Amino acid sequence: MAVMRIGHINIRVLDMGAARHHYENVLGLLPQAEDAAGNVYLKGWDEWDKYSVILSPSDHAGMNYVAYKVQHDADLDLIKGRIEALGREAEMVAAGALPFCGRALRFNMPSGHLMYLYAEKEFVGKSVGVTNPEPWPDGLKGAGAHWLDHCLLMCELDPEKGVNKVAENEAFFREVLEFRLTEQLMVGPGLVVQAAAFMTCTSTPHDIAFVGGPQMGFHHASFYLDEWSDVLKAADVMGKNKVKIDVTPQRHGITRGATIYFFDPSGNRNETFGGLGYLAHPDMPVITWTEEEIGSAIFYHTGELKESFTTVYTEGI
Ligand SMILES: [Fe+2]
Repeated sequence: MAVMRIGHINIRVLDMGAARHHYENVLGLLPQAEDAAGNVYLKGWDEWDKYSVILSPSDHAGMNYVAYKVQHDADLDLIKGRIEALGREAEMVAAGALPFCGRALRFNMPSGHLMYLYAEKEFVGKSVGVTNPEPWPDGLKGAGAHWLDHCLLMCELDPEKGVNKVAENEAFFREVLEFRLTEQLMVGPGLVVQAAAFMTCTSTPHDIAFVGGPQMGFHHASFYLDEWSDVLKAADVMGKNKVKIDVTPQRHGITRGATIYFFDPSGNRNETFGGLGYLAHPDMPVITWTEEEIGSAIFYHTGELKESFTTVYTEGI
């Protein structure tokens, strides 16, 4: 397998003090480092590499890039070759270009989103260690999120102009990065337009997702919780902290995840979700949702698609 898992996401924030309160005290991430440029590095207690989130001070919200970790350093050369064989650009950057990481491969997805792959990042270990570990550490704050789980990126979709960056990304991730399609949403006459694609490189229902919209953007970064009761508790934490909630606890039809969507103080959407949904083995058949069931696909209980869910999002690069 070429790509192992999501590694980290770089999110731009407008007010670092407010952002740190949100990511540390509401989500429960643990600060690991701060650099001279004011970037703050955080990780979940159940993660072992140095960080999974970089908050960068900026005057406009959004995502700078997302990085995934490959298993072997040589995978970077292999994938660089595959990308270049398509006539696309990919640049190998030196160790340290991604902070605390080894060399990395930098390229743009067909949708335009910036992506890095790397094989090495400084190891710090889980909060509970690896020798006779407790099931969870004392002193967790807020929702106590375990790890950064996935991201959802908005991709330009305009069938009338023949533009479908969802489908282009889906093909690129499948053919070049060896992700597998787990679920898709098909729309339009004859249901031939792929309007959403959920893809995995592990055995979870999605490690990245692409949804079509008027322009490319950053829809959300998602953080893992154990189960439904943790999702409810996370919503309580958000209520306590006056966090702007987008969607109260719900179940997705797609991926079966139990979810809450909310915004960080800069307007970047976050998700906490519980449960693994199902195991996406390599031979699992692709699940297809059709346009008339789009409401249930996204919000299974109400079956109604909240308009702001697909129209409100921050910049994707
Ligand atoms: Fe999600």
